[in-house]
Amino acid sequence: MTAGGRAGGSGLVLAIETSCDETAAAVVLEGREVLSSVVSSQVDLHARFGGVVPEIAGRAHVERIVPVVAEALERAGLGPVGPVGAVAATVGPGLSGALLVGVSFAKSLALCWDVPFVGVNHLEGHLYASLLEEPDLPLPAVVLLVSGGHTLVVAMSGPGAYEVLGGTVDDAAGEAFDKVARFLGLGYPGGPGIERAAAAGDPSAVPLPRPMISDGLDLSFSGLKTAVVQHVTRNPRVATPDVAASFQAAAVEVLVAKALAACEASGARSVCLAGGVAANGPLREALLGACASRGLRCFLPSREMCTDNAAMIGAAAWTRLASDGPTPLDAGAEPGLRFPGGG
Ligand code: KG4
Ligand code: ZN
Repeated sequence: MTAGGRAGGSGLVLAIETSCDETAAAVVLEGREVLSSVVSSQVDLHARFGGVVPEIAGRAHVERIVPVVAEALERAGLGPVGPVGAVAATVGPGLSGALLVGVSFAKSLALCWDVPFVGVNHLEGHLYASLLEEPDLPLPAVVLLVSGGHTLVVAMSGPGAYEVLGGTVDDAAGEAFDKVARFLGLGYPGGPGIERAAAAGDPSAVPLPRPMISDGLDLSFSGLKTAVVQHVTRNPRVATPDVAASFQAAAVEVLVAKALAACEASGARSVCLAGGVAANGPLREALLGACASRGLRCFLPSREMCTDNAAMIGAAAWTRLASDGPTPLDAGAEPGLRFPGGG
């Protein structure tokens, strides 16, 4: 079954994102102009557990989805029933119970409003974040997607046109920050805790490996995390800021090296970041510096656009709707969905 005969309709897409611990909705015009973007973060609910608790995430999405969508419509200058031309939702990857809330809600709205439903791959959504904020980004661009659950190196030559160049062979970049932070007692989420502690530390204090740094375009973080644990276990008096700074320096060095290698391999003219780890100050500085010295354009999206949001889902949905048409209403959530062509 397919909803809606007016594919694309008014050009407005209402997009919903509930793959993890952010309940988000946005209205995006023709995949380019963000009319509203509302994000309700659950980070406070999960912090005391040291990670996202799927059951709590799903329940919180159920409580928040209606007010978040209503606010997105209102901020876009629309009434509580739109009108919009399509309703999109992240279908995966993500937490099953969390995804189901957004997918069910979006499909119901599409059915009621008789407009197309568009299921969006969350990782594909992240690729659109930079294009939304910088439509003139020189293409092809290398997008370094570094979040708590994913690490992908992608060459993007335009909306809907991308090639996966590399990914992590074990832990995601943010997962490594989170695990090392937990081990060091620096709280959750771990990235900001590591960055704060590292500011007072010496990045060369602890000798740590740069896993796979000149070994293709895939990445590995698990060995780096293990090296931190082994060093601290053998040297219990080592200063935590020194460990945090040394870990951060190693992770940043690898990420920047991979971004540059990806540019070389793909002929990309610019590099941009996506995902929560993109908020990391030293990573942003190192990438900017490395790109400047090689004549590459570096674009660093705002923190709101790097972390999970529905605007990027609305942008991806517009391209998907044009290329694939509406998603059938009997399609389900796909928690283990992979990135097209890799990931
Ligand atoms: O994209 P995101 O908000 O959620 C998903 O994982 O989908 O990313 C969260 C990740 C966490 O692993 C968090 O520790 C990391 O981004 N992060 C950071 C920083 N802020 C958030 N990592 C390094 N430095 C930061 N300042
Ligand atoms: Zn994400």
